[in-house]
Amino acid sequence: MAGASLSAAALRGAAEPTILVFDSGLGGLTVLDAVRRARPDARYVYVGDDAAFPYGRLTEAALVARVLTVMERLVATHRPDLVVIACNTASTVVLPALRQRFTTPFVGVVPPIKPAAAATRSRLVSLLATPGTVARSYTRDLIATYAEACTVTLVGAQNLASYAEAELAGFPVDDAVLAAEIAPCFVTEADGRRTDVVCLACTHYPLLLPRLEALAPWPVTWIDPAPAIARRVVQLIGSAPRAAEGYGAAHGAFTAGTCLTDPLRTALAAHGIGEVAVEAIPLPLQ
Ligand code: DGL
Repeated sequence: MAGASLSAAALRGAAEPTILVFDSGLGGLTVLDAVRRARPDARYVYVGDDAAFPYGRLTEAALVARVLTVMERLVATHRPDLVVIACNTASTVVLPALRQRFTTPFVGVVPPIKPAAAATRSRLVSLLATPGTVARSYTRDLIATYAEACTVTLVGAQNLASYAEAELAGFPVDDAVLAAEIAPCFVTEADGRRTDVVCLACTHYPLLLPRLEALAPWPVTWIDPAPAIARRVVQLIGSAPRAAEGYGAAHGAFTAGTCLTDPLRTALAAHGIGEVAVEAIPLPLQ
């Protein structure tokens, strides 16, 4: 941790820092957008570890080993000034090992339980996440610390991250399939109280937000942690030293790149990623 804060302090005010945004696939794009808005002058590298997707099904030990291996290569290749682990499934278990291994500052994404507890009126909150994130003791501890007064329904969605990937690749799933994945989030108590806040605790899910809103059986507040992550990045590295004109282009890389369809390339371009490379890091670990 001490190494991380020193590097961040040295970086404060630096012109055009290189920020690496990392996820198992495309979910980190929702975080990339928020961070780019906050630091439009920075250079961005977006990396999706699609060779190991989905992270939600890996054991904690396998996930730690995988992310350390991949990060070793990415830090050596891209020399980022700061890394955003734009993945709840990884952040809830890998951050201590990353901070111990590297001096580069790391910012993680963790389930937005605290803002959810502040926003709910009915005290019925649902946490929609990967099965990995739902199982973490980190997640349980967050709930015990910040949402003691609430009933939190944990919903480990088996396929929702894959459906978000499919949507961007041009193969959207049917409404009924999406509705079934989110159905357990909507709870009604005997006294008439209903769930009024759903935490999007996987960065893939905001990619589907307009569809989720349309399919919800009643309106709820959906909490996306991306703006809070962008604020944390600015806290660490400072705001842009001068007004930037537009956003700098981001470089994209995937560790398999097998799903790089034309619709996906168009979607990536809409997130500022014009140039995409494959930096192959296959599974099993090499
Ligand atoms: N985007 C990731 C998250 O925030 C995970 C998806 C996965 O690989 O299972 O949890």
